[in-house]
Amino acid sequence: MADKLIIFDTTLRDGEQSPGASMTKDEKIRIAKQLERLRVDVIEAGFAAASPGDFESIKAIAGIIKDSTVCSLSRANDRDISRAAEALAPAERKRIHTFIATSPLHMEKKLRMTPDQVLEQAKLAVRFARQFTDDVEFSPEDGSRSDMDFLCKVIESVINEGARTINFADTVGYGVPELYGQMIKTLRERIPNSDKAVWSVHCHNDLGMAVANSLAGVVIGGARQVECTINGLGERAGNTALEEVVMAVRTRRDHFGLDLSIDTAQIVPASKLVSQITGFAVQPNKAVVGANAFAHASGIHQDGVLKARDTYEIMRAEDVGWTANKIVLGKLSGRNAFKQRLEELGIGLESETELNAAFSRFKELADRKSEIFDEDIIAVVADEQHSH
Ligand code: KIV
Ligand code: ZN
Repeated sequence: MADKLIIFDTTLRDGEQSPGASMTKDEKIRIAKQLERLRVDVIEAGFAAASPGDFESIKAIAGIIKDSTVCSLSRANDRDISRAAEALAPAERKRIHTFIATSPLHMEKKLRMTPDQVLEQAKLAVRFARQFTDDVEFSPEDGSRSDMDFLCKVIESVINEGARTINFADTVGYGVPELYGQMIKTLRERIPNSDKAVWSVHCHNDLGMAVANSLAGVVIGGARQVECTINGLGERAGNTALEEVVMAVRTRRDHFGLDLSIDTAQIVPASKLVSQITGFAVQPNKAVVGANAFAHASGIHQDGVLKARDTYEIMRAEDVGWTANKIVLGKLSGRNAFKQRLEELGIGLESETELNAAFSRFKELADRKSEIFDEDIIAVVADEQHSH
């Protein structure tokens, strides 16, 4: 049986850290319900200690969501962890996700703690969190800029304390695929109890490599959980995009060989909901969920797709929740695409000569007008018919 890749969605936590993307409790509940329909395995609903509003949102989501595990982030201290546990109390399945920075830079300049103090705090945090749930995740923040010997010590210790997921964070998007994947592989090889935890990737997109790094963490490093957000929403340049990881793993199952529980037909509805609630538009050429992701404009491509969709489509628009692919009529379109649109519009032309004449008129118009609507085509044909 193939391994399963766990999809951990953090749109409501790390996604919300995107400046200008804050959401109300009701909006978060709507998104959480859509994430449940999408069948994500884990929903990180927020950071309970961050604000009373975040606490209330997590609590409400914990009471409503049944099919996904609900998670709250917490720093590695008793107060944060208690708040997370309190907010998650109504959940059928709950996870506490605790983190502390492990890179020399963060420990010295931000935390002003010695490595020994960080190690001790990480252990105490996981031990404390385990009092509330068996499902505890630990993240070494800024993991990709941390010292490997120190990471080995910290991770081995937190697994001994009962952490069941180790989330290797590329907090500032510094990783490159081969190195990030190799770091995880090395850690798993060097840490004696590493197989007692599921390894997870958490990447940021500062260099545009969040998805590539995540997938390298899976393939090279053997991670079996990906942390991601809808539309790649997230702080600075964003997080790993859920829709891209999911469709890469589905479309290239020959390469990844992993199962997913995701209902891919819910991807576009989730993308539209998050975009509408946050006000963050999705760029038209965004993979999978962009308006042009399944649109064909050139004549050669249109002709190919009309003969066999696989010629220029590696996935089906319908499989990710679009109603259909799109043949966009414009100056690059060919006769075949024009003829097909006439048929769809129920316009029957008497002869090939008439079709050719209407096509010439359409091309002249398309040179002047960047977008051709159905009304334009109807007008072109009517003009052609009147001219005789
Ligand atoms: O980017 C990061 O390091 C995080 C952690 C809290 C996991 O979001
Ligand atoms: Zn993050």
